[in-house]
Amino acid sequence: MKRHYHRGSETVKALDGVDFSIHSGEMVSVLGPSGSGKTTLINLLSCLDAPTEGTMTVAGKSVTGLSEDQLVEVRRGVLGFVFQQFHLLPTLTVMENVELPLTFLGLKPHPQRTKEVLKLVGLLDRASHLPKELSGGQMQRVAIARALMIEPKILVADEPTGNLDKATGESIFGLFKELTQKGLAIIITTHNMAFGYEADRVMTLEDGKILKEEKRV
Ligand SMILES: Nc1ncnc2c1ncn2[C@@H]1O[C@H](COP(=O)(O)OP(=O)(O)OP(=O)(O)O)[C@@H](O)[C@H]1O
Ligand SMILES: [Mg+2]
Repeated sequence: MKRHYHRGSETVKALDGVDFSIHSGEMVSVLGPSGSGKTTLINLLSCLDAPTEGTMTVAGKSVTGLSEDQLVEVRRGVLGFVFQQFHLLPTLTVMENVELPLTFLGLKPHPQRTKEVLKLVGLLDRASHLPKELSGGQMQRVAIARALMIEPKILVADEPTGNLDKATGESIFGLFKELTQKGLAIIITTHNMAFGYEADRVMTLEDGKILKEEKRV
């Protein structure tokens, strides 16, 4: 896939010929210096952006050239996102924040499921708290819980541990590992080599190209 940005006569080759695939139960991390194309790749894989060149298949379906409405259908129930800035709504409780994706999809609240997911990320006891009453790591876990609410097949996370200390980052990676054992495919970007190499596969980008790809044996 390629993603080139055009600014006047200048072309930024943010992604310049990167092939990527992931299967169920696999965790892949994307490493690389700032500006190497990690977020660009994540946005393409999330169907939030379209490649300038190349094709993409999500859960066996080609998404090339689909309209925004059709993409929403593809994303529904398949793709969960975690952003570096958690994007929690400050006036909603933890529980309400986690339930938001259901509301967006026009589904009824499902308190039992919400509680199960909060338990999974270890935050059941914070369900009625507001985001400002949480630590950074806890907020990140709320964002992960929210992504998991729709029972995605693929979890896409851009710098999920970027703002976290080592211990909290490790606990989040531990959670990710448990989730892959349940069949979830996880793609994360990180600047942290130690975390990155916990994944099943590590892809390192440089200037929009794959510098190296390593598989853990
Ligand atoms: N909308 C845009 N228009 C033009 N250039 C862009 C745009 N978005 C990103 N770029 C450029 O594409 C390149 C890759 O950006 P990207 O955000 O993918 O990097 P990154 O690897 O995620 O970096 P970081 O580690 O800092 O988050 C950068 O040189 C950036 O300036
Ligand atoms: Mg980025």
